[in-house]
Amino acid sequence: MSKQFDVVVIGGGPGGYVAAIRAAQLGFSTACIDEWKNDKGGPAPGGTCTNVGCIPSKALLQSSEHYEHAEHSFADHGISLSNLSIDVAKMLGRKDAVVKQNNDGILYLLKKNKVTFFHGRGSFVKVTDAGYEIQVTGAANELVVGKHIIVATGSTARSLPGAPFDEDRILSNDGALRIGEVPDRLGVIGSGVIGLEMGSVWRRLGSEVTVLEGLPTFLGAVDQQIAKEAHKAFTKQGLDIELGVKIDKVTVGKSSVTISYANAKGSAMKLEVDKLIISIGRVPNTVGLNAEAVGLQLDERGAIVVDAECRTHLPNVWAVGDVVRGPMLAHKAEEEGVAVAERIAGQHPHVNFNTVPWVIYTSPEIAWVGQTEQQLKAEGREFKAGTFPFMANGRARAMGDTTGMVKMLADAKTDEILGVHIVGPFASELIAEAVVAMEFKASAEDIARICHAHPSLSESTKEAALAVDKRTLNF
Ligand code: FAD
Ligand code: NAI
Repeated sequence: MSKQFDVVVIGGGPGGYVAAIRAAQLGFSTACIDEWKNDKGGPAPGGTCTNVGCIPSKALLQSSEHYEHAEHSFADHGISLSNLSIDVAKMLGRKDAVVKQNNDGILYLLKKNKVTFFHGRGSFVKVTDAGYEIQVTGAANELVVGKHIIVATGSTARSLPGAPFDEDRILSNDGALRIGEVPDRLGVIGSGVIGLEMGSVWRRLGSEVTVLEGLPTFLGAVDQQIAKEAHKAFTKQGLDIELGVKIDKVTVGKSSVTISYANAKGSAMKLEVDKLIISIGRVPNTVGLNAEAVGLQLDERGAIVVDAECRTHLPNVWAVGDVVRGPMLAHKAEEEGVAVAERIAGQHPHVNFNTVPWVIYTSPEIAWVGQTEQQLKAEGREFKAGTFPFMANGRARAMGDTTGMVKMLADAKTDEILGVHIVGPFASELIAEAVVAMEFKASAEDIARICHAHPSLSESTKEAALAVDKRTLNF
């Protein structure tokens, strides 16, 4: 006997579980199928984000930042410590506990919203008059039928040809979050978001970290003034970033890994490390979905083909999050999940990709929304730029964290804010004001005229807005 639902969501990551909750809120009978297992084999909804992504990485970034402050900054505040040490097992245990709290929280939320949860893999079987048949296999073995299907099966780490992940020496994001003791020498291939975040964690704890990046430009998608400032700060901290390399071969030895590569000048180089993180992007995940059974279309990258509103070409089949085009971010997946549930209900939501914020949780943090200076120049759009350094901000000085700046870009004629780029303390929190401003099509003048609390880091955003009109008050 099959179980019939209005909406069946395959995947319980941020795209999937949020879509399921919203669909249930809108009155649909809803199921969510997710196969992630915790270390006891039980359900662990929340996907990559909760289990091996956003949440555990931020837990380790927090722990390692405390350690770094204790080691380097406390003395400036008159606090002296002796015999400082890091208990890596305890740090990892705390991270695991944070993950479990989130898994349990999601199970609770699904139950509270009356979403039926199935722990197992969901695969398409066929389409019938009643809807799409999905076979669940795993802890739950059931045939479920959904009038609407939302696919939210996420992504997995891309491996480097010839260097498969073994999660012992060659690590994906999963292994990078479970290194049992601080490696003396850590190699990272790819200086993107994961490389910089995970490289920072282990550098703070004492590893000698070398990051090898294929492109000649550091953080090419980031406004280059901000990227340069960040590069300077990371280099000063001791992160060794080599740009423009070409990886030739990765060889796993008994107790180390050797990377043979050509540097930017073309010279043959060798790097020997204890552990190697490979963070060269992620690939959409449709493994086990049996997309062929219903003819679900994938593109050449393996992503499910959808239109701007997350419709696949199959009637009543939708797809959201990392498994479709667009940035691979948890909040983008969530926005799409909510929007799809509302579209099924006949509503007309809109996801504005231009106001999806990006954050890199290094120290200094990097955050941005909207267009970069390079993009505006390439478009030939006339703009005004205003920057304000944290060095001139009273709160940042009191905190002892003055690296970086806020940069605002506004249309030369209308003064509409086109992009805000921040490198510095709590950039992840500061960017929210810029997102709101851009959603409301604010001008730089609007932000300049809003009263900001003193002393606060957010005054730097106001000052950057004033700088657009060349009238900063404190710089
Ligand atoms: P996922 O989170 O990947 O979830 C998909 C779920 O579907 C998984 O649980 C999977 O097991 C399940 N599944 C797959 N196939 C099936 C099937 N056939 N049947 C049943 N279940 C299935 N983003 C941010 O916005 N901020 C961050 O700070 C951030 N940090 C990150 C750090 C790291 C180390 C990594 C790797 C990623 C990070 N991301 C971050 C990206 C973020 O994790 C993803 O964008 C987000 O998880 C995508 O959500 P999703 O729902 O599309 O897919
Ligand atoms: P990424 O796309 O951010 O960076 C990959 C880097 O690897 C790029 O700089 C690329 O040029 C480089 N690269 C690719 N192939 C290479 C090769 N063969 N040799 C050397 N360098 C090579 O991908 P990453 O860091 O793996 O993260 C994947 C995604 O996960 C991110 O794009 C982001 O969407 C998400 N994420 C988001 C986070 C956040 O929001 N804070 C944190 C971590 C991940």
